[in-house]
Amino acid sequence: MENLLNGIEEITLMGPGPSCVNKAVLDAMAKSTLGHLDPKFINIMDAIKEQMKTLLHTNNKLTIPVSGTGSAGMETCFVNLIEKDDPVLILINGVFGMRMQDVATRLGADVDTIEFEWGTPVVVDEVKAKLSEKKYKIVAVVHAETSTGVKNPVPEIGALVKDTDALYLVDAVTSLGGIPIRLDDWNIDVFYSGTQKCLSCPPGLAPISFSEKAVEAIKKRKTKVPNWYLDLTMIINYWEGATRAYHHTAPINMLYALYQALYLILEEGEENVHKRHMNNHLRLVNGLDKIGIKMLVDSQYRLPMLNSVYIPQGADDAGVRSALLKDHKIEIGAGLGPLAGKIWRIGLMGHTARSENVDKLLTALKSLI
Ligand SMILES: Cc1ncc(COP(=O)(O)O)c(C=O)c1O
Repeated sequence: MENLLNGIEEITLMGPGPSCVNKAVLDAMAKSTLGHLDPKFINIMDAIKEQMKTLLHTNNKLTIPVSGTGSAGMETCFVNLIEKDDPVLILINGVFGMRMQDVATRLGADVDTIEFEWGTPVVVDEVKAKLSEKKYKIVAVVHAETSTGVKNPVPEIGALVKDTDALYLVDAVTSLGGIPIRLDDWNIDVFYSGTQKCLSCPPGLAPISFSEKAVEAIKKRKTKVPNWYLDLTMIINYWEGATRAYHHTAPINMLYALYQALYLILEEGEENVHKRHMNNHLRLVNGLDKIGIKMLVDSQYRLPMLNSVYIPQGADDAGVRSALLKDHKIEIGAGLGPLAGKIWRIGLMGHTARSENVDKLLTALKSLI
């Protein structure tokens, strides 16, 4: 009988995620599965919470990984906080801001948005004006907009939200582990991320963190959280306290992987990891310039881990991407929405952000355009 897994080759993942996974993380997943209430496993869970607090620069007690991908993190944040007609402001400059709008609208929130051109950042003064017009329960923004490669001014927006009663909700799916993020200093109340980008873990977990103010808002709900699986009031009894209560069976081996991935980042040193992302981004931009490929985003708003580049004139979008995959074992991403057919998205996330990968891609691209 044919086993399809035998056909899997190593691909250099240079798209918008998943990213390359360090062998130590894959090995961690292959360790024996423990029971979800085994004291040894509980110790690993506790260690993950501490690793996350260190990396997020927060004292938030409610800092845990949720089962599911980044979108489960997004759902967890909104579903635990929103009740019908709650006023929510969402800042949109790409696909993932739009996804937030969809999630919050489905929950019956009274959603206002401010939209910005794709490829440009959120304009802080426009947010300031909106906040002076209306009171919001939540103000939400994507830190690293993966659909465009733009970094949004998260600390500056946080400074504005701090002067209101609103909770500040930040998507850090692509930013965490690639650029600095400091929850407590930046006034972030509600945070979610994903494992398959700069944490360089396979997809499957969503780190989240809620401030005391956000936890109070959950406690003040008049109605039950309308989603059983993501209800933090129940999940927390498995992640905290002397006796742990079963909620759902934890994805044990994925949690080993997250532990190992966070271990590697903290061992290399957060600053060194950020520098490695930046240095490889600059090496890529320089190399692309030499072969005539231009960047979509202005240099001051660029993300090091997600590089959106204009497809050069005459190059066949899908043809080049499939030749990269087939002949060079490199994956890059296509453009989304209004940028489909106009850009490629080149990821330098986590373990992918290494000079040999940048050079390999530049050589391959040069031969194909
Ligand atoms: C910024 C951002 N938010 C949310 C998501 C959704 O995450 P997932 O695909 O892991 O569910 C992604 C995925 O690419 C993302 O880039």
